[in-house]
Amino acid sequence: MKNTFALILLLIISTGLHGQKFDGLALTPPMGWNSWNHFGCNVDEKMIQETADAMVTSGMKDAGYTYVVIDDCWHGERDSLGFIRPDPGRFPSGMKALADYIHSRGLKFGIYSDAGAKTCGGRPGSRGYEYQDALTYASWGVDYLKYDWCSTGELNAKEAYTTMRDALYRAKRPVVLSICEWGDNEPWTWAKDIGHLWRISGDIHHCFDCQWDHGIWSSWGVVQILEMRKNIRQYSGPDHWNDFDMMEVGNGMSAGEDRAHFSLWCMMASPLIAGNDLRKMSKETVDILTNKEVIAVNQDQLGIQGYKMLDLGDLEVWVKPLKDSGLAVCFLNRALIPESIGFDWKEYPIDDGFSKLKIDFNKATYQIRDLWAKKPAGTTNQEFKAIVPGHDVIMLKLFR
Ligand code: GLA
Repeated sequence: MKNTFALILLLIISTGLHGQKFDGLALTPPMGWNSWNHFGCNVDEKMIQETADAMVTSGMKDAGYTYVVIDDCWHGERDSLGFIRPDPGRFPSGMKALADYIHSRGLKFGIYSDAGAKTCGGRPGSRGYEYQDALTYASWGVDYLKYDWCSTGELNAKEAYTTMRDALYRAKRPVVLSICEWGDNEPWTWAKDIGHLWRISGDIHHCFDCQWDHGIWSSWGVVQILEMRKNIRQYSGPDHWNDFDMMEVGNGMSAGEDRAHFSLWCMMASPLIAGNDLRKMSKETVDILTNKEVIAVNQDQLGIQGYKMLDLGDLEVWVKPLKDSGLAVCFLNRALIPESIGFDWKEYPIDDGFSKLKIDFNKATYQIRDLWAKKPAGTTNQEFKAIVPGHDVIMLKLFR
């Protein structure tokens, strides 16, 4: 009896010591903005405030974007007690004031750290300070943490990310945890109960089809990331997403490439984290980032990652099952020259073993809507005819 009592007590104490993931914070893929792709280490409070303003005035907030995330290099030194402080030159008002500003715009505040001793930009990492940093973030009002993997040596990834998850939980402020270890340790196989999203690749580069060699590592174009992890869609879903990386829309690719990039991230149910300068966007960039019908495909409640249904060489057909037995279909032209399509739905039944979506278009007729042209495009009883420009897409929604 005494032993049972002691065992129960021990169980209560040890459960109390462990943390858990804040459930339900990312039931659809998180949407927001991150400083890294465009600004690198050149971050400061004025630019971040202006970005929050632009997120509202551009219509992005209305379209669903919420998180304003400062990536690497916001850090100053740790103080004599070990508390991390922002760079006083770049963030003179402090992080609490910046978080308040972002919150006052109806947005959420995200920050970046690293599981190792130093961040990838050489700033102080959280190793050995996880609980202290989590408390600091909570006191600032942080809602989202991107947690990187530089300078981690022999650390075990699952353990390191669990430590930060538990630290955040103990600090009691709900925080979305974005795991960024580039897919090296296959987080999709172990991180469902640890983070809300995990990167599946090395860094993106603002090109459609390229590999950018940095010596011991490479960054990748849009189609390279798309192809990199073909067989892990079953690991992604509500509250635990495969993260295809922050977007490069508006960072120098052509409008067609940006449209294709955005469409494919939506098809893959990837988090939609813009990575451009929101203060200086062309109308084309705004139109791409705020196309609500395309975003609705990304945010569909089923949360099913799309897949390549057909590979016709340069032309590919991607499919994403949606709620109410609908689906999105994306024709991707990977070549630079236009491709004409004549697509007979009746020849291509849908049979997705993962989502169990099965459609024989000989037996069921679907309505078609063109999500970029924003108009109806007939039904599946007719052949779908169109020209897909080079490095571009046509994206359709099929529904009954
Ligand atoms: C890594 C990450 C990037 C970015 C940089 C910052 O490379 O993958 O997304 O956070 O570090 O240094």
